[in-house]
Amino acid sequence: MTTSELHASPRASATLGILLAVCLVAPALAADDESSDSDDHSPLHEKMEAIGDSYGHLLQAFRKAPDLAATPLYLKWAETLHTNLAAATQLTPARAEALGDEEQAAMNAAFKKDITAAATTAQKLLDALKKDDLKQAATLIAQLKMLRNAAHEKYREPDDDE
Ligand code: HEM
Repeated sequence: MTTSELHASPRASATLGILLAVCLVAPALAADDESSDSDDHSPLHEKMEAIGDSYGHLLQAFRKAPDLAATPLYLKWAETLHTNLAAATQLTPARAEALGDEEQAAMNAAFKKDITAAATTAQKLLDALKKDDLKQAATLIAQLKMLRNAAHEKYREPDDDE
């Protein structure tokens, strides 16, 4: 078939059209597959990512002398931290799923107690920041780190990255 015949033939044009559509749609579908990889994370992991972000900002800000003028920003991070920790009290660790009924129930109960303690500490952090008490805020940020480290030892999958 010559080029001019190809242009003239409706069937050839339709075939080319379909091929073009496949070329355009296939990469979009592949991209969808990639984005669904991030959905593999548990609901708790998603919350923890948000907790990690806001806590990381606070940690960095308080590493040197915190700035009273920046308190509204600290409050914003502490609010996100608290909201996500409070939401995490309704979830359970992925690690518990592999356990038998009794052990699973025990781990979930212990998790709930510890995550609630962390949410309460984040609430105290909010209260301290609202009073412009940066010294108390620094103490609570340090306490959250201890709670995090101890909790991750107990409830995170052992092969998770640090
Ligand atoms: C300020 C405190 C905390 C921060 C900044 C934090 C941060 C994170 C981050 C970034 C992850 C995901 C990446 C990774 O695995 O390293 C994670 C996972 C996890 N964290 Fe935390 N965390 C905190 C407190 C806690 C507390 C108090 C608990 C439990 C009482 C907890 C339990 C877990 C668990 C179980 C996972 C694995 C997710 C899953 O099981 O699906 N974390 N955390």
